[in-house]
Amino acid sequence: MKILITGANGQLATSLIAHLAPLGAVVALTRQEFDLCHWEESVATLTRLQPDLIVNAAAYTAVDRAEEEQDLAFQINGIAPTRMAEYCQNNHCALIHYSTDYVFNGQQNTPYREQDPTDPINVYGQSKRQGEVGILESNCAALIFRTSWVYSLVGRNFLNTMLKLGLERDELRIIDDQRGSPTYTESIAEATALILSQKPAHQSIVNYLDQYRGIYHMTNQSDTTWYGFAQAIFALRPTRARLTAITTDQYPTPAQRPHMSCLDNSKLKQTFDITLPHWHDALVACLTQSL
Ligand SMILES: NC(=O)c1ccc[n+]([C@@H]2O[C@H](COP(=O)([O-])OP(=O)(O)OC[C@H]3O[C@@H](n4cnc5c(N)ncnc54)[C@H](OP(=O)(O)O)[C@@H]3O)[C@@H](O)[C@H]2O)c1
Repeated sequence: MKILITGANGQLATSLIAHLAPLGAVVALTRQEFDLCHWEESVATLTRLQPDLIVNAAAYTAVDRAEEEQDLAFQINGIAPTRMAEYCQNNHCALIHYSTDYVFNGQQNTPYREQDPTDPINVYGQSKRQGEVGILESNCAALIFRTSWVYSLVGRNFLNTMLKLGLERDELRIIDDQRGSPTYTESIAEATALILSQKPAHQSIVNYLDQYRGIYHMTNQSDTTWYGFAQAIFALRPTRARLTAITTDQYPTPAQRPHMSCLDNSKLKQTFDITLPHWHDALVACLTQSL
């Protein structure tokens, strides 16, 4: 099985490359080698490579900047994944794509299920939702994994920002009224690999994924706030900085964010018998790995 991973320099792609390597011939392409803004060239690359499976880890992920760069966000997160799905549908190729908790408005009191109505409150969420809809409408053999608050020791994310600011500042003011599930890239990559490894040997990857196509919520278990996440980080990596809990109103950002974006993972458990680790266990694993 030939597997193409896009966005190869990203934090999730970095974990995917390692975890999918035992499952087939992995080709991982960076933005320079496979640019979702230059689709004609990307199709030529697909035609040359003939992958059996595309794992699309490329995305426009700058949530605040997306409010200004709307066209770019929609091109990378909405239009390109739709074209990718159409390519897959026409070329006997399967697709795995990642989406976000930010497709929801955050007004629900209970964890969101896959079929709950979407209502993104920022451009990033709207662009990611457009990608979901385009993929679903293409009818290709695609699984879409919605995840949240993604981190690892590589890349730009909340964990690395905290570790850096914890060394520089005397006080860190952190939002305590947004709830979600911090999710380690290794957990997502492990779960993705496990799902692929459940494919029966006699079945093609397209036929295997086709029977399960649709959206699945995939996050580390349980939830916290950004403040709770920061407390857990600094319990493991002590800082002299004082942590102060603040409200969203006290930290205005260009993009609005949902107050509650926990995702119910029971469809993933029922379909593939997979449960990701508790978010705190995953954080311990991440920080222990770097010691
Ligand atoms: N980060 C989160 O908190 C979060 C939360 C929920 C869902 N997700 C989803 O999880 C998936 C993986 O995200 P991540 O956290 O790994 O993001 P990331 O670290 O920002 O990686 C995204 C990658 O996409 C690449 N990229 C950007 N524009 C591109 C283009 N035009 N063509 C090709 N590649 C392009 C980037 O390239 P450069 O390295 O050159 O910039 C980067 O390597 C995405 O679908 C994201 O929407 C993320």
